[in-house]
Amino acid sequence: MFICICNAISERQVQAAVAEGALSLTDLQGRLGVATVCGCCAETATEYLPGGRYANNVPAPSLGAVVDDAANDPSVGGGMHVHQVRRA
Ligand code: FES
Repeated sequence: MFICICNAISERQVQAAVAEGALSLTDLQGRLGVATVCGCCAETATEYLPGGRYANNVPAPSLGAVVDDAANDPSVGGGMHVHQVRRA
């Protein structure tokens, strides 16, 4: 099912972005481009964020996604790394 028709963004893509740490509509817009054209999908996309009506439909992030995020985060330097898993 598409959430954002203008940008052909699916429910799964929105769920994955939230599972990977998106916490706001701005995060979803930056990661996916959702709600950046007509804006009609903004309210629905927001419902997948923590506290939203569909937040419970978002799978927990896999350990691999968390490690990948940390590996790609320039603020994570050498030394000991602490990985935190956020849940909705
Ligand atoms: S439906 Fe998402 S920006 Fe138009």
